[in-house]
Amino acid sequence: MKFIHLTDTHVIGGDRLLYGANPARRLARAVDSIIADHGDAAFVIVTGDMTHWGDADAYAAFAHEIRRLPMSVHLMVGNHDDSAPFTQTFPDAARDTAGFVQFTFNTPHHRAICLDTKMPGTHAGGYCETRLAWLKQQLEQSQEPVLLFMHHPPFAVGIKAMDNIMMQDAEAFHDVIAPHKHRIQHLFFGHVHRAIFGNWRGVSFSCMRGLNHQVALNLNPETTNVPGDLAQPAYGVVLLSEDFVVAHMCEFAATSPRFLLGAPEGEDNTAYQLDMRHEGFTDL
Ligand SMILES: [Fe+2]
Repeated sequence: MKFIHLTDTHVIGGDRLLYGANPARRLARAVDSIIADHGDAAFVIVTGDMTHWGDADAYAAFAHEIRRLPMSVHLMVGNHDDSAPFTQTFPDAARDTAGFVQFTFNTPHHRAICLDTKMPGTHAGGYCETRLAWLKQQLEQSQEPVLLFMHHPPFAVGIKAMDNIMMQDAEAFHDVIAPHKHRIQHLFFGHVHRAIFGNWRGVSFSCMRGLNHQVALNLNPETTNVPGDLAQPAYGVVLLSEDFVVAHMCEFAATSPRFLLGAPEGEDNTAYQLDMRHEGFTDL
């Protein structure tokens, strides 16, 4: 099966620009692309930061686009979300009994556990005792393979300004998942606005780019202001089966040339490769 990992859409209201880009228009393009190219996806999951400022106009613009998707959509909150307008716009958004925006659902071979890592009043993430107890209960309730979804990563990625606002309760979080790590098949997160892949204490993970501004690769530990750029927006296309999780990055708005690597039947392969030119494309 296939699903779409969409994150950090950072929509604002009023058809305005944010850092020189139009997040609502970018979300519209992403939705168009998902419908056209991945309409068979089982679901779309949004790992937080639906809007940039959490205001009603922004949630209205976000909802206007996201509701065009024909498959089910799972909404998670990030540090920019879970304001009153979110609740007003999505009154049926899944929450636990304590009111946190966290929930579970099943795929054919996995149990998806979606965490609310927002802490009020800060961009840093957190996971309090109440939420830890909820997670512990979810993990103990079944023995199925697990996929974890969260906004803030529970570890540093090497970009100082983002590491400062990672999930602050990482050790307590790790203690809860540790007895279940053998069946946690992957951890998906957002927040860092980059494609990052790796392994944290035995758990494989991936982070996907956002749709508006991205975080630039700056590994200088002295850089404490978040480095940004406008790299191509992207969403994740994830293939799942009983024995694999494959995460692709789809740069849905890219305009770089596309072509077949092999010559058409009967043509010389070497000449095909050497003679290829692309209108409007200038190489490095
Ligand atoms: Fe974000």
